[in-house]
Amino acid sequence: MADPERIQQVILNILDNAIKYTLEKGHITMEVIQNKNEILTTISDTGEGIPEEDIPFIFDRLYRSEKSRSRVSGGSGLGLTIAKEIVELHGGEIGVESTLGKGTVFVISLKKENVNE
Ligand SMILES: Nc1ncnc2c1ncn2[C@@H]1O[C@H](COP(=O)(O)OP(=O)(O)OP(=O)(O)O)[C@@H](O)[C@H]1O
Ligand SMILES: [Mg+2]
Repeated sequence: MADPERIQQVILNILDNAIKYTLEKGHITMEVIQNKNEILTTISDTGEGIPEEDIPFIFDRLYRSEKSRSRVSGGSGLGLTIAKEIVELHGGEIGVESTLGKGTVFVISLKKENVNE
């Protein structure tokens, strides 16, 4: 069970990033799988990637890596903070793996039964 509008917001935030930080010829893939206890949503892109030293901070409020600040205008650095907050309020987890110049993978895991435990 989940709040569908909020989960949609999480997915849109992550897709918005994937689109912003991937050049025209790249690929963005979304996969949803479920096992007995959880639903795993994976969003992968072949974009610019995130510098290793920035990864610990990307979920922080207003944080934007220096690289993207100079390349992409407009973002405020709130998208991932909000996404993490929503996922955690659902009792879930959000994680990231990224390689500079190769791409980024976000994984959202939601437990199937977590409501008001
Ligand atoms: N898919 C991605 N590829 C490369 N860098 C990313 C990706 N997703 C996030 N980042 C980095 O993490 C930072 C934080 O992301 P976040 O979504 O919180 O902010 P934003 O996209 O800059 O602004 P907002 O979401 O508020 O419009 C980004 O500025 C960017 O540096
Ligand atoms: Mg964003």
